[in-house]
Amino acid sequence: AKKKAQKAAAETGHWGEGGELHQRSKKGDQPLTTNQGLVVADDQNTLSVGPRGPQLLEDFIMREKITHFDHERIPERVVHARGYAAHGYFQAYKSHAKLTKAAFLQDAETKTPVFCRFSTVAGSAGSPDTARDVRGFAVKFYTSEGNYDLVGNNMPVFFIQDAIKFPDLIHSVKPAPDRDFPQAQSAHDTFWDFVSLNPESMHMLMWVMSDRAIPRSFRMMEGFGVHTFRMINKKGESQFVKFHWRPTLGTFSVIWDEAMKISGADPDFHRRDFWNAIESGNYPEWELSVQVFSEDQANEFDFDVLDPTKLIPEELVPLTPLGKMVLDRNVDNFFAETEQVAFCPSHVVPGIDFSNDPLLQGRLFSYLDTQLSRLGSPNFHQIPVNKPKCPFANFQRDGHMQMEVPTGRVANEPNSLDDGSPRENAMAGFNSYHAAEAGEKRRLRPESFADHYSQARLFWISMSDPEQRHIVGGFAFELGKCNEAKIRTRMLGHLANVDQSLSDRVAEKLGMSGQADTIQPRVPVRDVQPSKPLSQDSVA
Ligand code: HEM
Repeated sequence: AKKKAQKAAAETGHWGEGGELHQRSKKGDQPLTTNQGLVVADDQNTLSVGPRGPQLLEDFIMREKITHFDHERIPERVVHARGYAAHGYFQAYKSHAKLTKAAFLQDAETKTPVFCRFSTVAGSAGSPDTARDVRGFAVKFYTSEGNYDLVGNNMPVFFIQDAIKFPDLIHSVKPAPDRDFPQAQSAHDTFWDFVSLNPESMHMLMWVMSDRAIPRSFRMMEGFGVHTFRMINKKGESQFVKFHWRPTLGTFSVIWDEAMKISGADPDFHRRDFWNAIESGNYPEWELSVQVFSEDQANEFDFDVLDPTKLIPEELVPLTPLGKMVLDRNVDNFFAETEQVAFCPSHVVPGIDFSNDPLLQGRLFSYLDTQLSRLGSPNFHQIPVNKPKCPFANFQRDGHMQMEVPTGRVANEPNSLDDGSPRENAMAGFNSYHAAEAGEKRRLRPESFADHYSQARLFWISMSDPEQRHIVGGFAFELGKCNEAKIRTRMLGHLANVDQSLSDRVAEKLGMSGQADTIQPRVPVRDVQPSKPLSQDSVA
């Protein structure tokens, strides 16, 4: 056998240790090269002294290959680490010029390319798809006026009212620093401790303990911008909007037992479903709508539209459909596209602007900041998935991983040395809406943010019997994993403020009937009665 190997090796010139033959790939005309373009003669054996001798530091080919491998990983996202994405397009149904001057909403002909990433929030990049969690729903519109990112979630409200609390919220839900578990969304002493000390979380907790937190498929999830935004038309008129995505397939969930079994049997359940659907031509679709309301209307509501723990009931402000998104192309490379994409709520276009929601304002800072360390260079906007598909030019220069090769000596603005260099444009450029602002500078939560239970109650009473059963089961399962009795009794006290029967049913399942703490709401809980159920489409 050794002789045979030696004969074959003599023909190919390709030896392994002890004389065994390594197969050479016969496919392809493209030679394998180093990063410098040098054709590699032997990609199987390290340079050594004699067949069994020491390996040489000189082997720059082996060192280059291993060095690159050693640096293959980049940090995962600090939240929303596990995600899946696809390309597609957005098309408006008609002109929405009355509402906004945003170019991609001016007519029914324009097809705007999009890239859309869905994600879980708390788990690491390798965590299972069907964990109980909020889902991210982030869309990058490559418009003719620059990239517009609508960075939303599959639930219309959020846990906290102010960005300064976000690091604490996320620390409480991520694995504990000493033991690095648990991985799952809410089975934490730290999480339940944090939210039970932040009653503003109660409305969001109702959503997270409901079927909405265990979706059947990315294709069957709603999406929400959460915050109040502004839209501004050519005349400079501003309206407030809330964004909604609705899937054409309808909104569906799995039930908890299914979610747990699927987590074990196929942790890639959602990404497999999504990839297969697109690959087989069943392109997922969503309708984008807005709730439009004026500043005067906003002042009439008995909640504050700047408070991200509140939604605007559709009985008060119905949805205005804007257009449709179709996702019709899987990525070519997961890392290059899905992992390196950088969404940012501050990526807006003329005609779309922010509100003073204190959570949104913090987000406007956080994303670019984190992406500088996640992607490692201030030039990550040059990565193809992040690059605008319209012309872009400025005088930002140099920095790690600079891929552009600007010519000329001028890198300042204004200048009189290069007439062809980019110039600001007051008419076409982005102008912040001229909102009148005044007041004392201080750290103070507005009193209008103080009602933490009424909309949580509205959510509860709008649920069908099976949905209510699932919510009770969700709280009982998660609080059952919480080791501290004082946290459980505190949570039962909050639930009693939402609805006494909810608290009683959870307490009974926990074997803690009658043990709820008394928690005094800051403002009286209102009994909001919806004229129709707000959510009829979750699967029972
Ligand atoms: C991702 C911060 C609230 C939706 C992220 C990332 C950070 C972050 C640092 C990682 C970004 C990256 O590495 O590329 C914050 C802060 C928040 C906040 C500071 C509150 C103060 C929210 C809210 C929503 C949301 C309210 C939904 C409306 C998302 C989504 C992603 C994300 C969808 C994943 C984007 C992707 O797919 O790459 N957030 N977030 N976040 N956030 Fe937030």
